[in-house]
Amino acid sequence: MWGARDTRDPHVPRRTGITRDDPAGVCTPSAGPGPVWASGTGDDYGRKPSRDQSSQEQTPQMGDTKDTLTVTDNRTGETYELEVTDGAIRAMDLRNIKVSDDDFGMLSYDPGFKNTASCRSEITFIDGDAGILEYRGYSIDQLAEHSSFLEVAYLLIHGDLPTADQMDAWTHEITHHTFIHENIKQFMDGFHHDAHPMGMLVSTVGALSTFYPEAKDIEDPDIRLKQIVRLIAKFPTLAAFAYRHSIGMRYAYPDNDLSFAGNFLNMMWKTTELKYEPNPVLERAMDTLLILHADHEQNCSTTAMRTIGSSDADPYSAAAGATAALYGPKHGGANEAVLKMLEEIGSVDQVPGYIERVKKGDFRLMGFGHRVYKNYDPRAKVIQQLAHEVFDVTGKNPLIDIAVALEEVALEDDFFVEKKLYPNVDFYSGIIYQAMGFPEEMFPVLFAMGRIPGWLAQWQENLEDDEQAIARPRQIYVGARDRDYTPIGERG
Ligand SMILES: CC(C)(COP(=O)(O)OP(=O)(O)OC[C@H]1O[C@@H](n2cnc3c(N)ncnc32)[C@H](O)[C@@H]1OP(=O)(O)O)[C@@H](O)C(=O)NCCC(=O)NCCS
Repeated sequence: MWGARDTRDPHVPRRTGITRDDPAGVCTPSAGPGPVWASGTGDDYGRKPSRDQSSQEQTPQMGDTKDTLTVTDNRTGETYELEVTDGAIRAMDLRNIKVSDDDFGMLSYDPGFKNTASCRSEITFIDGDAGILEYRGYSIDQLAEHSSFLEVAYLLIHGDLPTADQMDAWTHEITHHTFIHENIKQFMDGFHHDAHPMGMLVSTVGALSTFYPEAKDIEDPDIRLKQIVRLIAKFPTLAAFAYRHSIGMRYAYPDNDLSFAGNFLNMMWKTTELKYEPNPVLERAMDTLLILHADHEQNCSTTAMRTIGSSDADPYSAAAGATAALYGPKHGGANEAVLKMLEEIGSVDQVPGYIERVKKGDFRLMGFGHRVYKNYDPRAKVIQQLAHEVFDVTGKNPLIDIAVALEEVALEDDFFVEKKLYPNVDFYSGIIYQAMGFPEEMFPVLFAMGRIPGWLAQWQENLEDDEQAIARPRQIYVGARDRDYTPIGERG
């Protein structure tokens, strides 16, 4: 029973006790927040406590806090008490707030899901104010410095870093699933000669589901894992083949002797040599860039992955949808916009004038600002350092000087300081990709290749979460009602 009515005061009716374990409607204070923090919201509520506070804050005294929210509905004068867990109320608890018995109940309205947690997740933690990003509790800085993309993929999927034996087996599995069916190659040949590689990737990832029909059995963890391996392994092959098709070069097949990143560079750049030898600095840079993109909690494409997966669709179809979501310039295309901006600025001496125009509101500074990060994006720091290592091999991309000058001016300027606008991951990633020889159309493809383990980890977590159901939001209908159909000849 939800919200048992309290009849003690007939003039001010009270409904209390919207507390799941409390059918009598008598609210008892809960034990307070456990070690779970609302992530990525930019709000203080539910924030991960700083290290010196955390032990104290994780073990509050019983009775010290009452984790409920009291709401008075001024339409009726009724008061409701909603349970607060981990800094959130349950949207379904609002349904009990009604003006009459036949009222549907209150909804929360949140276009763009700006303040709605759609899941409880153990995968990625972001503290946007502090500029912290962690995969499964490990900081992105440590992973970028010490780990490899395949190890990070294992971590995201399985929850822990692998032992040496587990890592060997995982690497072997991924390496031996990089080939794609020859029919997929023919399928790719059917695309127009200048087809965008991202459009090709969306289509071919979706087409993979027709080659692995057992993938529909999403209840079987072994079958799920097999598809996870296939998707991580085949993404670089599809990505590189899409690129080769778009420039009219024959496909370069995977080379199992090479590392994950080294093999991708081989499939991208191999020409007449018998054996492609990746440059170790560029190979490591490629691997690090993939690590930096491997997950970012509930962003647009990940939400697409979870949403499609929630209908029990196979993971190839879900990944095609997630890739499509990433295709949009607001998600996967910002680094391309940064390059265009830097080219437009043209030289360091033009930077102050450009900044003034941004401040006047003529346009935004691309690669600056983030919905979640209100501090330096930790990934941007890693990329900035990486850029110089790459330039030692490729020669300096002259755009970096303009980017650094822009950053220096912006970080000192009150306009950007007050709005908490800092460089995001896209500010430097395009410059580094360009120096490595990737055309702009490949930027979102590289993003997708890095993000696939994150999508899959989130997809799997969603399937294993008993609280989840098919994603099906509500709407507030504001259109016409009860219109009479007029035959076409009578419409004027
Ligand atoms: C990423 C982005 C969409 C986040 O937007 P958001 O969190 O919704 O923030 P808002 O758009 O509400 O902006 C907040 C304020 O900062 C300003 N602002 C945000 N980003 C800005 C930028 N890059 N340049 C100049 N001003 C910016 C807005 O004009 C707004 O100012 P106001 O409060 O005076 O109106 C935004 O920062 C942006 O457009 N950045 C440039 C594009 C980009 O780099 N995208 C890649 C993201 S990974």
